[in-house]
Amino acid sequence: MPSQPNVPERTKRSTCHETMEREEEKDGIGMEEYFPSPSEPKPSHPEHDDHNASFRIFHENISLEMERAKLSTRRENFPQCDAVQSGSQGDSIFLTWEDLWVTVSNGKTKCRSLLQGLTGYAQPGEFLAIMGPSGCGKSTLLDALAGRLSSNTRQSGEILINGRKQTLAFGTSAYVTQDDTLMTTLTVREAVYYSAQLQLPDSMSRSEKKERAEMTMRELGLQDTMNTRIGGWGSKGLSGGQKRRVSICIEILTRPKLLFLDEPTSGLDSAASYHVIKRIADLAQQDERTIIASIHQPSSEVFELFHNLCLLSSGRTVYFGPASAANEFFALNGFPCPTLRNPSDHFLRTINKDFDQDIEQGSDGLKMTTEEAINILVRSYKSSEICQQVRTRVAELYKKGGKTLEKKGSQASFFTQSLVLTRRSFVNMYRDVGYYWLRFAVYISLCLCVGTVFYKIGHSYGSIQARSSVLMYIASFITFMAIGGFPSFVEDMKIFERERLNGHYGVGAYVMGNTLSSIPYLLLVSAAPGAIAYYLVGLQRGIEHFVYFTLLLFICTLLVESLMMIIASVVPNFLMGIISGAGIQGLMMLNGGFFRLRDDIPNPFWRYPIYYISFHKYAFEGFYKNEFEGLTFPSNQGGQPILMSGNEILRKTLQMDMDYSKWVDLAVLLGMVVLYRLIFLGIIKFVEKFKPIIRALGTISPKQTTQVMVNPYSTPLHEAGI
Ligand SMILES: Nc1ncnc2c1ncn2[C@@H]1O[C@H](COP(=O)(O)OP(=O)(O)OP(=O)(O)O)[C@@H](O)[C@H]1O
Ligand SMILES: [Mg+2]
Repeated sequence: MPSQPNVPERTKRSTCHETMEREEEKDGIGMEEYFPSPSEPKPSHPEHDDHNASFRIFHENISLEMERAKLSTRRENFPQCDAVQSGSQGDSIFLTWEDLWVTVSNGKTKCRSLLQGLTGYAQPGEFLAIMGPSGCGKSTLLDALAGRLSSNTRQSGEILINGRKQTLAFGTSAYVTQDDTLMTTLTVREAVYYSAQLQLPDSMSRSEKKERAEMTMRELGLQDTMNTRIGGWGSKGLSGGQKRRVSICIEILTRPKLLFLDEPTSGLDSAASYHVIKRIADLAQQDERTIIASIHQPSSEVFELFHNLCLLSSGRTVYFGPASAANEFFALNGFPCPTLRNPSDHFLRTINKDFDQDIEQGSDGLKMTTEEAINILVRSYKSSEICQQVRTRVAELYKKGGKTLEKKGSQASFFTQSLVLTRRSFVNMYRDVGYYWLRFAVYISLCLCVGTVFYKIGHSYGSIQARSSVLMYIASFITFMAIGGFPSFVEDMKIFERERLNGHYGVGAYVMGNTLSSIPYLLLVSAAPGAIAYYLVGLQRGIEHFVYFTLLLFICTLLVESLMMIIASVVPNFLMGIISGAGIQGLMMLNGGFFRLRDDIPNPFWRYPIYYISFHKYAFEGFYKNEFEGLTFPSNQGGQPILMSGNEILRKTLQMDMDYSKWVDLAVLLGMVVLYRLIFLGIIKFVEKFKPIIRALGTISPKQTTQVMVNPYSTPLHEAGI
């Protein structure tokens, strides 16, 4: 096995020295000086053999590449030289990471390193590609940089934005994750339009926003699919590659200053990949944006679009530096790319150890295992000049500093966000059969059943029991079924989480949009089935009683939905959500005052507080008061027929609180709806604010340099990918 290539110390020093000299020269001279003239005589090293000479040339090339890369930093100091650049220079983002470790514990003792001491940087105007075999840690690196690591991981090392430790502000960066989370019921045009309206500033006119959306869709080749529904489980719509492009399209609408893309080309053919990456690379160059993307199998044309390349294997850096110099790095370490083979294919083949294969090294065809080849490359990179230069560059950027990123969030106003979200959510609820329509059909059938089972109950003594039973059934079981819409709501939440993390809009706007859009449907699913049950059973006549009945049913379903929203924000998946929701409601129902009368409920815990915080208490009370007040029933006590008033039944038989009217019960329930929605909002805000701090406190950091960028939304729900 050949040893690690020796870069002669002198060569190393001389190239490093040259670089430093050039650095010194650069201060106070014109920009053209950054590029040494090709005719400039190169320092000669007659004592080196050919091999070492090629190393020297390689390092010089790298130095030149790195210097070219520094140009964008310099541009900030010479804005007048940069009139053609459209990006606002002061907003540029320099992202650096140093000695970044990410570990995950398997069980109680074992700790597995997903990333092992990575160092690198990304700067404006450049496209950094992260490559490596599947499972090498590309997504983990992106997640760490974007502050979205899941909570079972531990992170150490320093990630700095413009030389500062900072929580990644919503709206400052955009992240196209590996999975597409899109609203499946919308067409491509609708999805992008709504997104444009949510994200673009109110100062832009409607037509300008439309134009931006249209242009971006065309740039990503979506013009022929604009009117196709995105589709998802059970309803095929777009292909995987088309969905990928929609996800990218939505995130590049605002030309974000910092863009992360996880596998932007998966599912795309080579031509589409080229055009998509070309568009993204143009965004980096023309708008001075900082772009980091993980990528599989780039064609050689696509590969040429990358400025820098980060090659990973099992969480270790195999190479980080100019993409154009990677081929040479491999060749110099004895793994030259065979003619006619795509360089990126060659790199991946050399460093993929998932499959048993031997790698040939050097021209003598010496065989070695992939593991050995990787070790050679990793060691060689660590001791190389380029690694040193990357560290120097990171240190420079660290010192350079820059603007602190402001938490801008979305640029549309709260009113616009709420309006657009209400409209979008209304359309989604209308088209998603599982959201309300299925429930509507079930409610109709159930209310028909209730109506026929309790048909015309009349006003006999026995009807007292029948009345309380039918009302209890409607107040508890019919409202209970509101959890049927939970899976659709969870889908909605996934989209909310993605958009919120990317700063499209605020939590308040989401809650507002969701509440307003659901009101018409909930009114419908309460009024129509409610009317069937009400009139078939023959409950108290009078429109006022029916209106109250419908309103109460509506508020109860709204309340159950609000409860499910809270559950969705804390449980890991929708199955657990449904089980938890059913459990909580079962508990409330049990202590609502029907199955056990108020005075019989054990005082500690069950009566105080469960009975009083259970919404069923107020729902039963409201329904009963609405029904019994004003009616009289015969009593069978004492063998003589005497009349009992509804109020008496309410007080004595049903043990209802009669100190306040039925409208107070309705108001309490309405208050609970508001409270539950505020709790949901509070949980999300709390997680957003405090989770980064809690996580930062618990992070293992030998150097005590923990980055506090943490996914504020890494609730179990988010992590489970539901
Ligand atoms: N939260 C986590 N808990 C446990 N293991 C994890 C976690 N996140 C990532 N891993 C593991 O870390 C390794 C790297 O995962 P990652 O998703 O970063 O790979 P990748 O390079 O993006 O792969 P692909 O190209 O297939 O997307 C995998 O083995 C994965 O199982
Ligand atoms: Mg991945």
